[in-house]
Amino acid sequence: MKIGVLCSGGDAPGMNPALRAIVRTAGYFKDEVVGIQHGYQGLLDEEFLTGDNMPRDIGVRAVSGLTSKGGTILHSSRCKEFMTEAGVRKAADILRKHKFDALIPIGGNGTLAGALELSKYWDGQIIGLPGTIDNDLLGTDYTIGFATAVQTAVEAIDKLRDTAGSHDMMFIVEVMGRHCGDLALTTAIAGGCEVVAVPEIPTSIDNIIASLHKFKNLGKKSMIMVVAEGDDLGGAIEMLARLKEAGSPYEMRVVVLGHVQRGGSPVPADRVLATKLGCFAVDSLHKGETGKMVGEIGNQLVLTPLSDVIVDHRQVSPAMLDLLEVIAS
Ligand code: F6P
Repeated sequence: MKIGVLCSGGDAPGMNPALRAIVRTAGYFKDEVVGIQHGYQGLLDEEFLTGDNMPRDIGVRAVSGLTSKGGTILHSSRCKEFMTEAGVRKAADILRKHKFDALIPIGGNGTLAGALELSKYWDGQIIGLPGTIDNDLLGTDYTIGFATAVQTAVEAIDKLRDTAGSHDMMFIVEVMGRHCGDLALTTAIAGGCEVVAVPEIPTSIDNIIASLHKFKNLGKKSMIMVVAEGDDLGGAIEMLARLKEAGSPYEMRVVVLGHVQRGGSPVPADRVLATKLGCFAVDSLHKGETGKMVGEIGNQLVLTPLSDVIVDHRQVSPAMLDLLEVIAS
């Protein structure tokens, strides 16, 4: 079987261990694996990483040492041409021309939506892997990269807590997450933060100001609020302006963590998840599966049709929001 692998959209820590698991499992089946560089753009440009142009031997040894490596050695991109029907048709022609039997795209919602489009014009097998720090995909409890991004954000918050405590002040920390507040909420709980703003719940400045006064009266001298970039008010900078205007009882500063959260060596949870899902993807191809995403739900490896994955974004858990409120007070 000739399998193409690509990473598309925002990179996520764990994409490299996923590639390693795919190559090693494919080695067991005696498959040929071709790394497609720069995501769907590289597919359209026929930018292939094969035996002839790999820096080291192709196959199982070429992926040695990838468990701990952040980013993606395949490189990634967001490809405008692949968002057009002509682009998708061209990609299908290229896959036929090079006699690919299967494709494993690793990425988030846009990557998997692209894979579903491709399946309309190409009859090879497609099995997607959930790779995004956002944890916003249906069909898996956790996406590859989420655990590392939380770790990175919490390390930053632990440091900010020290300076917030020293100066009796409040930090408004912006984390990534355009559609889903899971990264923000998990970071807030793990970092012992007091307030969170997520895209799923309309933000009320009046309610936040009331909470800040309540915390002040309870004797809390310093505060940390986590804001998801996709919050309806528009992120941490806007939040600071609005809270200032509404009379926040705390002196405030903004920290935008941004792309720092996408980098770094994957934590063990991401390495293990990536390894399980990479192996399961190749196994699934050999069982004849196609048009699905691999995931893990309640410790079980599962396959979900791409059409069911992309219909919506995962939502934060209301129980976790309640938990933050109880614990913070
Ligand atoms: O989808 C992953 C992600 O990191 C989001 O959290 C973020 O909104 C987006 O990518 C940023 O994308 P870019 O690097 O293209 O600005």
